Amino acid sequence: MNNNAKIGFIGLGNMGFPMAENLIKNNFTVYGYDINETARQAFAEKGGEACSKMSNAVEQADVLFVSLPTPAVVKSVYFDKGGIIDSAPANLLIVDTSTVAPELNRELGEACQKQGLRYLGSPVSGGVIGSVNATLTFMVGGPKEYFDEVYPLLDILGGNLFHLGESYDNGTVIKLINNLMIGFYTEAVGEALTLGENMGLDREKMYEILNASYGQSKIYDRNYKEYIKENDMEPGFSTDLLLKDLKLAKEMAEESGTELPIGDKLIDWYESVSKAGYGPKDMSTVYFHLKKLAKQVEL
Ligand SMILES: NC(=O)c1ccc[n+]([C@@H]2O[C@H](COP(=O)([O-])OP(=O)(O)OC[C@H]3O[C@@H](n4cnc5c(N)ncnc54)[C@H](O)[C@@H]3O)[C@@H](O)[C@H]2O)c1
Repeated sequence: MNNNAKIGFIGLGNMGFPMAENLIKNNFTVYGYDINETARQAFAEKGGEACSKMSNAVEQADVLFVSLPTPAVVKSVYFDKGGIIDSAPANLLIVDTSTVAPELNRELGEACQKQGLRYLGSPVSGGVIGSVNATLTFMVGGPKEYFDEVYPLLDILGGNLFHLGESYDNGTVIKLINNLMIGFYTEAVGEALTLGENMGLDREKMYEILNASYGQSKIYDRNYKEYIKENDMEPGFSTDLLLKDLKLAKEMAEESGTELPIGDKLIDWYESVSKAGYGPKDMSTVYFHLKKLAKQVEL
């Protein structure tokens, strides 16, 4: 894929914006659209071609990246009047990095195929820092020849590129399993820190020791060093997006006849964390919620 290829980018949020910016930095012309005008303006300031209509970004693209929050939004962006299916030029190659249900990947892949478009279900992992630093993991499902064609672009955005199989949902299956684990780890970090502090331990000392012990995890690093320690609650990855993924993992478990005894409890728990006001905040804020609960017991 040479630098003359024109890239469309739909969804310039926490993940999409830095990915689009990295493509710009690599001298690609990127036509970006987001429903949010502030995001479009910021994108133009970084040298992107900001489009005020989604169809303008789609029509001009040879390769279209998509990074949208929920399955409902993704579905409407493809199927609504003036959406991707309506406005895509023939043979467009779509790399959809949104995390959705596996059946939606299949539905989108088949709808694209019918229209003479090419689709890859390509969820990512690695967070905003991975998007900024271009170290994302791509978990890709769909025809291998599409993956091979888009590989040079994915290689700009990520450090770990996996083609999981020909079915459009192959990447999503493992992505949702990854995020089920993130749900566990995030809760574990919140509970461990709260308990440790209530027992009089110093947070930094705890980190130093647990970092050298089996309690360590990438999520401990992320949640503590990037967010909790900095008192930063802005997402990152919001509690509501995590909750969305846990529910998608639960659907997958039900379809495959898998029991998730603690996974089920996590969904109820994060629902309550979201209702307490932490839904749009970073998932690590479960810690702040636990701290408040702990205080209530103390009083
Ligand atoms: N944040 C993370 O750490 C992370 C990591 C891996 C995967 N993901 C997944 O990537 C996707 C994007 O996540 P995010 O954190 O960037 O979310 P986000 O909410 O920060 O960004 C989504 C963007 O989509 C835009 N948008 C919403 N509706 C739109 C529409 N109809 N048309 C155009 N734009 C629209 C929003 O304005 C927003 O800028 C999600 O599916 C998420 O689960 C996120």
